[in-house]
Amino acid sequence: MLLRLENIEKSYKNNFEEKNVLNGISLKIRDNDIVTIYGNSGVGKSTLLNIVSGIINPDKGIVNFNGKIVDNSNKLSIRKKMISILLQKDNLLPEFNVSDNMILPLIINGFKYMEAESRVNEVLDYLDMKNYKLRYPNHLSSGEYQRISLLRCICKKPKLIIADEPTANLDEKNCEQLMKLIVKLNKDYGMAFLIASHDKRFKKVSTLEYELFNGDLKINE
Ligand SMILES: Nc1ncnc2c1ncn2[C@@H]1O[C@H](COP(=O)(O)OP(=O)(O)O)[C@@H](O)[C@H]1O
Ligand SMILES: [Mg+2]
Repeated sequence: MLLRLENIEKSYKNNFEEKNVLNGISLKIRDNDIVTIYGNSGVGKSTLLNIVSGIINPDKGIVNFNGKIVDNSNKLSIRKKMISILLQKDNLLPEFNVSDNMILPLIINGFKYMEAESRVNEVLDYLDMKNYKLRYPNHLSSGEYQRISLLRCICKKPKLIIADEPTANLDEKNCEQLMKLIVKLNKDYGMAFLIASHDKRFKKVSTLEYELFNGDLKINE
């Protein structure tokens, strides 16, 4: 099992109230799964994803990633090595070209420049997108932007890609293309996906679907 969440609870407190967002939810992801979490805006999808990636800590419960219990001592290195994150927008730094946007995270991860560059070339080549290398993010269509952003996620060869509403800014055709790319990467590279969305078209590509509602996570049959 790649990821196991057990009885995760999370609430947000301010001076006036306490808001329970996750009431003891559990979830499992296998190495090759494409898991989609549906739910309306505000139900806690991003909270759940951020707990998996270690960006926020749960109040209670256990996150087990790749056979290890995630805690404050190892969560950063787990995220660095094994998890990539795709957001609905703002994935790329506007002042860097595509190639540098893809190389930078690898350098931060300890790759030598040459090694990082050849990894990036290999990934762009794989989709016949090498001609995008020197383009700047604001010269990409929203579809190209998201596909490049997704390719950027795979460069370090993570075990899991977390995608938070990755198609929210895309039209029909680009949405379809991104979903196809997710399936292709999942097949060719064998990486798992955890996707939050309210786009029911993910049904076609998901191996497992959940619905988050009222603090509970239920499997969609
Ligand atoms: N840091 C925070 N402090 C207080 N409330 C928060 C915080 N983050 C999220 N929330 C609240 O928790 C609920 C779930 O948020 P979120 O996980 O972003 O939902 P979703 O991604 O499904 O739209 C929302 O009501 C949101 O306002
Ligand atoms: Mg969200």
